[in-house]
Order: sequence, then C-alpha cells, then structure tokens
Amino acid sequence: MQTIATAAEMTAFVDKAHANGKTVAFVPTMGALHAGHLSLVHLARSLADIVVVSIFVNPLQFGANEDFDRYPRTLDADATKLAEARVNVLFAPTATEVYPPDSQPRQLKAGVAGAPFEGAIRPGHFDGMLTVVNRLFDIVTPDVAIFGAKDAQQVFLVKQMAAKLHPRLKIVEAPTVREFDGLAMSSRNRYLNPNERALAAQISRALTRCQEVADARGTAAQAAKQAAAVIAEKPAIRLEYLALIDPNTFKEVPATFKGQCLAIIAARIGETRLIDNLRIAF
Ligand code: PAJ
Repeated sequence: MQTIATAAEMTAFVDKAHANGKTVAFVPTMGALHAGHLSLVHLARSLADIVVVSIFVNPLQFGANEDFDRYPRTLDADATKLAEARVNVLFAPTATEVYPPDSQPRQLKAGVAGAPFEGAIRPGHFDGMLTVVNRLFDIVTPDVAIFGAKDAQQVFLVKQMAAKLHPRLKIVEAPTVREFDGLAMSSRNRYLNPNERALAAQISRALTRCQEVADARGTAAQAAKQAAAVIAEKPAIRLEYLALIDPNTFKEVPATFKGQCLAIIAARIGETRLIDNLRIAF
C-alpha cells in the first residue's frame, strides 16, 4: 500500500491508473477504522481495479460543541488494517491540502433534504460533509465511491450532489455492519463505557420492533410509537428523533403507508450520539 499526502500526487496517481485502463474505487473515511469501514473496502475491491481510501477528520462537518478535538485518531493502526485489506492507496491529507488557503474549494449547501433529522440537530454538518466529499471527489476522480447505509441521510445527500456535480461517478451504498447484539458499528462506540455500551443495543432493538409491528400488519404510525416505547424502557437513553421516511425523498411517510420505507433513529447515551436505521416493509 502506498500512502499519499498531497492532492497533486493523489490526482496524478489516478490519472496514471486511468491512462493504463484501470478503474478506481474510492472509500472516504475519517479513520478510527472498524469492520464497518472494512466492509466498504472489500466491496470496493470487487468493484474496481484500484482501491483508494481517504482518512481525513474534516473540521467543517463538526459543530463548535461537537467532538472534533477528541475524535479518535489512530492512523498507524488504520494503515495496518488497510494494508491487510490490500488497499492500493491510503490518501491521508492535511487540512491545508484539502482546503488550500489561497484557493478556497467550493462550499456546498445541503439544501432542503439536509434540513431535517441530522441537519436539524447538527446545523452545518451536512454542508461541511458535502463540501469535503465534493473536494475529495475532485482530487481522487474515482469511477465509483462507496458509502455506508448506516449514515442514511449522508448517502442520500451524496447521491443527490454527485448526480449534479459528478454525473459519471457511481455511488454505491453498502449494508450496515453490526456488533453481536445489533449495535451498528461506529467510531463513536468507543466513547461508551460498559454500562452505556450495554444500553446502546436498545437502539437497534427499537428499529427491529418497527419491522415486528409491520409483520403483524400494524401501521407505520403504530410502529413508530412502539419503537419509541422500546427506547423509553431505558430512561438513560435520550431519543432525539425516530421517524419512518421514504428513502427516495427523505420525507416522513403517512401514518398508513404501504411499501418500503426507512426507520431512522438518533439517540444520546451519556455524552455519545448514536444513529442507526433499518429498511422496513409495510
Ligand atoms: P466515517 O464516519 O469515518 O464513515 C466512513 C464511511 O463508513 C461512511 O460511508 C459510513 O457510512 C461508513 N460506515 C460507518 N459505520 C458503518 C457500519 N457500521 N457499516 C457500514 N458502513 C459504515 O461518514 C464519514 O466518515 C464522513 O462523513 C465522510 C463521508 C468521510 C466525510 O468526511
């Protein structure tokens, strides 16, 4: 595996690969890699000749009171994992490479679909996320980019942005990888103490309750209510939102909706914010 730190070298590497007739798959990350990230890497390997993974903790997508300073930075361990997964290039740029002071990259706005749910609780988060993803796409110029279904609103907005600004780039969504008890893997899970970690499984239990209600021919409204009740069983979990949305619009479905939708949830346990989602068929 080769490690590249500058934008110019990264672009030159992919230009050369393309000139040699190779295809390039790209997996953007913020590091602190776990099996969820590595599943994206494995999928990437099956989709293209060359795999590029970026590690960049993007300051623009963190709010003033969020965890940018304490976000786990484990570059050496991450590089070992990526080399073992036979990644071709680790792109690990500095902030000045991504945001050169003399030529500010285009600042994107997430717009209407970025306003509710995560956007409402983390103002500016999706603007910063789209700005860095667009910039990374410009630097890496991949043929395909892989994002996790775990961050449902993120991948929705990335697809919307890529359709406009990178029309030849294919965005692929990879399924959520979970711990033994259903908790979605996340770099932030390491913030949880053992008690909080045990409680965290309740978040995915609330989502599976939605599917149980749907299987028992309950309505979307009943599913949402029962899922909220599952969270309420554990007063130490503070629910931020729980909604059933149409994955094509990211808008809430009607109370008696029929078809495929997405149950999305965000909750806080102690200082840690966790999000998850599950496809539900009514
Ligand atoms: P990060 O949280 O490091 O996640 C990188 C990618 O891994 C994202 O596409 C995310 O959805 C995916 N991922 C995380 N946990 C997963 C899991 N349990 N199963 C499957 N995929 C999972 O998301 C970001 O970084 C940033 O916002 C980024 C896109 C890199 C822009 O800065």
